Amino acid sequence: MDFQEEKYAKGATGYDQRIRNTFPFYETIHPTMNAMLRGLVRSDGQLLIVGAGTGAEILEFGKTNPDWRFLGVDPAQPMLDLAKEKIEAAGLSERASFFKGYVDDLPTGTLYDGATLGMVMHFVADDGAKLKLLRAIASHLNPGAPLVLMDAYGDLTTPESQLLLAAWKHQQNLAGLKWEQVESGMKERMQGIHFVSGTRIEQLLAEAGFHRVQRFFQIFMLGGWIAFRA
Ligand SMILES: C[S@@+](CC[C@H](N)C(=O)[O-])C[C@H]1O[C@@H](n2cnc3c(N)ncnc32)[C@H](O)[C@@H]1O
Repeated sequence: MDFQEEKYAKGATGYDQRIRNTFPFYETIHPTMNAMLRGLVRSDGQLLIVGAGTGAEILEFGKTNPDWRFLGVDPAQPMLDLAKEKIEAAGLSERASFFKGYVDDLPTGTLYDGATLGMVMHFVADDGAKLKLLRAIASHLNPGAPLVLMDAYGDLTTPESQLLLAAWKHQQNLAGLKWEQVESGMKERMQGIHFVSGTRIEQLLAEAGFHRVQRFFQIFMLGGWIAFRA
């Protein structure tokens, strides 16, 4: 297990609560991704779920799209174990497969009808690695297939981002976290995030082989984009 894999694997314990503490609007994220994809992916489409984590995308999409099939990719086996448990309990196991590792390591051969990258790319450095990840996803998509990306973004040196960060913390506090928990949780999380601007995200998508790049979502510093494999 490499260093990154170990970090993500450790994060599995308590993930489902921690992510809701970080994003009190977490429950809206996956239905929003679903709404973007439903009209674009054919009814028997195959979706590549990158950073599948504990299964949120597959659970949400699987319920309402009875013939979609999924491949969930994630380097953290403990996250995938939790995903499998929930997906089985939801009766979706037959339509979901899993790959432990990175998109770069996926076997070639299958081209997917759509992909998601939900709250993953912000953990990846902008030193060529974000671009490599997006290029790898593009290489596994059919031409014209959509990618839905959700990512924390912004430039923390600007007053605009500072305003959003402050409001984001207030929302966590309003949702029930004590201020000390808000501050300590955010301090830790923000250190792991490689923030870039929305413009940079759009540039990376274009460079990686996507076109018709469009932002459809923003709550505080979390943004949602759709883009299509050129
Ligand atoms: C914040 S979780 C998001 C999980 C899920 N998409 C959700 O919405 O709850 C990030 C996940 O991305 C995985 N991950 C981190 N780097 C990755 C990479 N380069 N490729 C694929 N998955 C990655 C982590 O192991 C973790 O499970």
